[in-house]
Amino acid sequence: MSSNESELKDGINLLSKEIPIDEPQGGLNGVIRLAGSIVHGDKLGRILGYPTANIAVETGSPSVIDGVYAGWLVLDDQYMPAAISLGINSTFDAIERRLEAHVLDRTDLSIYGRKVTVILGTHIRGMRKFPDVATLVARIEEDVCLARTWLQRNVHLSGQGSS
Ligand SMILES: Cc1cc2nc3c(=O)[nH]c(=O)nc-3n(C[C@H](O)[C@H](O)[C@H](O)COP(=O)(O)O)c2cc1C
Repeated sequence: MSSNESELKDGINLLSKEIPIDEPQGGLNGVIRLAGSIVHGDKLGRILGYPTANIAVETGSPSVIDGVYAGWLVLDDQYMPAAISLGINSTFDAIERRLEAHVLDRTDLSIYGRKVTVILGTHIRGMRKFPDVATLVARIEEDVCLARTWLQRNVHLSGQGSS
C-alpha cells in the first residue's frame, strides 16, 4: 500500500487535527444518525476499562466515514453522552466494521436487544491499528476527554442541558 493510500485509509484524520468546538450548523438537524439494536460484542471493552454498547446498524447512511466521534446514544428519548467508534478494530486484527458507543460515566448499562439511535456529533480522529493494547487504552482515554469537553459545550443540542 502506498503512503497515500494509508493516509486515505486513516480517513478524515488528516482533515481534522483539532476537535472542532463549534456546534454543528443547524443544530442536530444535519448530523448523522445511525439506528439499530444493541448486540453482544467481544466483551473486551470492560477489561480495557471502556465498556461499549455494540450496535447492529439497521438504518443510516452507509457512507459515513469511519472514525472516533463524540455524540450521543439515544435510548427511549434519553440522550446519553458517548465516545463512539465506527470501523474495524484492527488493533485486535478484527475484520468486521463495527459501531460501538462508550457511554460516559456509565458501567451499569444492560441494554442488549434494545433499539437505539447513535448521533455522531463531531469527528475526533480516524480509526487506527495500535501497536499494543496499552497504547489503544491511553488513546481512548484521550478521546473520552475530548468527547467530554465537546459534549459539555454542546449539551444544549441534546435538549437535556441545564437551564
Ligand atoms: C473511543 C473509542 C475509540 C476507539 N478507537 C479504536 C481504534 O482506533 N482502533 C481500534 O482497533 N479499536 C478502537 N476502539 C474499539 C476497541 O478496540 C473496542 O471497543 C474494544 O476492542 C472492545 O470491543 P468489544 O465491545 O467488542 O469487546 C475504540 C473504542 C472506543 C470506545
